[in-house]
Amino acid sequence: MKKIILDLDTGIDDTLAIAYALGSGEAELVGITGTYGNVTVDQGVRNALAVAELFGHPEVPVYRGVDHPLTRDTFTVSAGSAFIHGNNGIGEIDIPDANREPESEPAVDFIIDAVKTYGKELTYIPTGALTNIATALRRAPEIRNLFGSIVLMGGALTVPGNVNAWTEANISQDPEAADYLFRSGVRSTMIGLDVTMQTLLTRRQTQRWRDLDTPAGRFLADMTDYYIHAYETTAPNLGGCGLHDPLAVAAALDPTIVATLPINLKVDLDGATRGRTIGDYDRLADPFKTTNVAIAVNASRFLDDFMHRVTAVAEQ
Ligand code: BDR
Ligand code: CA
Repeated sequence: MKKIILDLDTGIDDTLAIAYALGSGEAELVGITGTYGNVTVDQGVRNALAVAELFGHPEVPVYRGVDHPLTRDTFTVSAGSAFIHGNNGIGEIDIPDANREPESEPAVDFIIDAVKTYGKELTYIPTGALTNIATALRRAPEIRNLFGSIVLMGGALTVPGNVNAWTEANISQDPEAADYLFRSGVRSTMIGLDVTMQTLLTRRQTQRWRDLDTPAGRFLADMTDYYIHAYETTAPNLGGCGLHDPLAVAAALDPTIVATLPINLKVDLDGATRGRTIGDYDRLADPFKTTNVAIAVNASRFLDDFMHRVTAVAEQ
């Protein structure tokens, strides 16, 4: 069975990614590692512990990750993130804290150990800042070629960003970490806004979870409606919210859900375009391509599958 690690800044779509993973019988969630972005690391870890319990999986270990970008000492949640995900990251919905603490092993150590233990069986899925994986690769370069795969949510190659015209939120949190990963020689798949903005969830679908009248179903519906409200405010013509992070999990479990373009990427680190994911001119002709960028998605197949898996979790 495929082993997966989710590396999350546990906000709303990260929580949907947890639900999707837990509803996926073909994968074992061996750990959640916490990063920052939508929320601080501590709030994200707290959310991950709480939702794993609510979804009936208190056995999933949760690890605290690096709490700030590579080139700064601190991290502060932006007003934009708080507006989209709520101050607590889960749409201001109040759910009980879990009856347990995060693991004492730091996330980066866990990632290094897990790669050495599971090797090609392991898929690592980061859906927030890329600081943990960049730190792990720097600290233990011997793990570079051991991964099964790395499938990340972040970036935008053919469409504008969502922080500004150039930059997507996860890459913008730590551009140096993302650039390190893309230019490290490690293979990865990028699930960016190019495809995630084609997978939209509507209030009609969240109502199906509410109608189940279970604690998990009500929570998922209310939390996701908060997210949809943010999209309705900023992009009224869209008609739903982007399922960014769950799509990365789906593509990790079934790569045929997306079509990809092999390319060597880098991240702009200076000036107005800081945080932009762009083809690396210096490695354009290199026959060895390290990143597969998703450029098309079977949105209706993904949405059916997403509803099927998450509803199974909401039913309990
Ligand atoms: C990404 O940014 C975060 O706000 C979301 O959780 C998602 O991972 C979308 O740009
Ligand atoms: Ca995220």
